[in-house]
Amino acid sequence: MGFPHPSHPKETPVLSKHFGEAAARTYDGWVARGGYTALTKALAMAPEAVIEEVKASGLRGRGGAGFPTGLKWSFMPKGDGKPHYLVCNADESEPGTFKDREIMRWTPHQLIEGCAIAAYAIGAERCYVYIRGEFTEPLRVMQAAVAEAYAKGVLGANALGSGTRIDVVIHRGAGAYICGEETAMMNSIEGRRGNPRIKPPFPAQAGLFAMPTTINNVETLASVPHIINRGGEWYKQLSLGNPKSTGTKLISVCGHVQRPGNYEVTMGTSMKELLYDMCGGMLPGRTLKAVIPGGSSVPIMTATEVEACLLDYEGVVACGSMLGSAGMIVMDDSTDMVYQIWRLARFYAHESCAQCTQCREGTAWTTKILERILAGQGKPADLQLLLDLSDNMTGKTICVLSDSCAAPIVSGIQKFRSEFDAYLSGARQPALAMA
Ligand SMILES: Cc1cc2nc3c(=O)[nH]c(=O)nc-3n(C[C@H](O)[C@H](O)[C@H](O)COP(=O)(O)O)c2cc1C
Repeated sequence: MGFPHPSHPKETPVLSKHFGEAAARTYDGWVARGGYTALTKALAMAPEAVIEEVKASGLRGRGGAGFPTGLKWSFMPKGDGKPHYLVCNADESEPGTFKDREIMRWTPHQLIEGCAIAAYAIGAERCYVYIRGEFTEPLRVMQAAVAEAYAKGVLGANALGSGTRIDVVIHRGAGAYICGEETAMMNSIEGRRGNPRIKPPFPAQAGLFAMPTTINNVETLASVPHIINRGGEWYKQLSLGNPKSTGTKLISVCGHVQRPGNYEVTMGTSMKELLYDMCGGMLPGRTLKAVIPGGSSVPIMTATEVEACLLDYEGVVACGSMLGSAGMIVMDDSTDMVYQIWRLARFYAHESCAQCTQCREGTAWTTKILERILAGQGKPADLQLLLDLSDNMTGKTICVLSDSCAAPIVSGIQKFRSEFDAYLSGARQPALAMA
């Protein structure tokens, strides 16, 4: 998303502190900014102590599900004699989400350091960084940084002279949204089709190459060096009151605001403050209609729900949605909600791996029904049909891609019903021609 904006006084830049500084991309530049002190510190600790520090921080996965990171690491077996793997999820294909690419573009060593600490903590000698195929610049920057990290002895057989082997291997995806799902990602790295796997077995039991594996998001791993350097307790204090949601969060804001971009805020910051103070509010003469706060895979929020919403995992749930990946899609009163929901459904239909019937058929059917409504050929029973289909797409498949398609459809019908009715009654002119 272009060059980063200057930090707003209401932001708390930790991960994004050096965004925009080209020198921070190099090993020397990163070391001059305090880089690799956390890895040195971690390598002198017992792996269990590193996990305990991350547990104490309260860090939760930034990829969408918000699972506690230290707890996830503690699931990895100990003393089993098998190779362990770490996978860094840099696929970032969720609509409206554009934060991980900026971490890689501006602070590749921040991510490499986080990967190395996590690998050490879970007993993995190798970390695969799976980068979305379209990310040409982040890939180039990451490749150069990994090469430099090897040249400087940070990575390799004797990481920072510790006697521990830590390798980082960059694996480029081919542009499939489903490969962001952790088990599909493991299949993709293995050279198979990117279809999600049935759990159990969970990755910590049998993951990549059937070996114990941990998968973490870019932002999650980039947070780790700060936790090791400044302590879990320090990180835990970065919260505006909710002890279950700690630290800072990079929020990608796109759509109808004056200043879209990435904003790093303390967990618990109010959504209104983000949208109006930091992002400058709506475009001239416009009012807020809706926000999809967690990338596109979560329920749509109305302007009223946004009013009192606090940006943390529990806060967004309390206001009718989920924090997800925290990519906020902001829509003003000029937005045709039915049209936007159709565009999302079409995305999920295109990206379904087609393995599960409910997803393959459900995403395609919902797209077609929405298309028919938009073409002015909807039937009175169509809304109930969409809700029934969505019900069959929720909680019934191997992964949650079809649940993600259903969330904006169901919430859209519940919260913006009059817009659907306007197409069904002919009060609104067709927005599409039937194919
Ligand atoms: C269809 C689908 C796409 C996903 N895409 C991503 C993605 O691009 N990046 C990501 O970090 N997690 C993505 N996830 C979530 C991952 O499966 C996984 O939960 C996450 O990488 C775990 O890391 P964390 O614990 O650090 O959040 C996706 C999940 C699904 C179901």
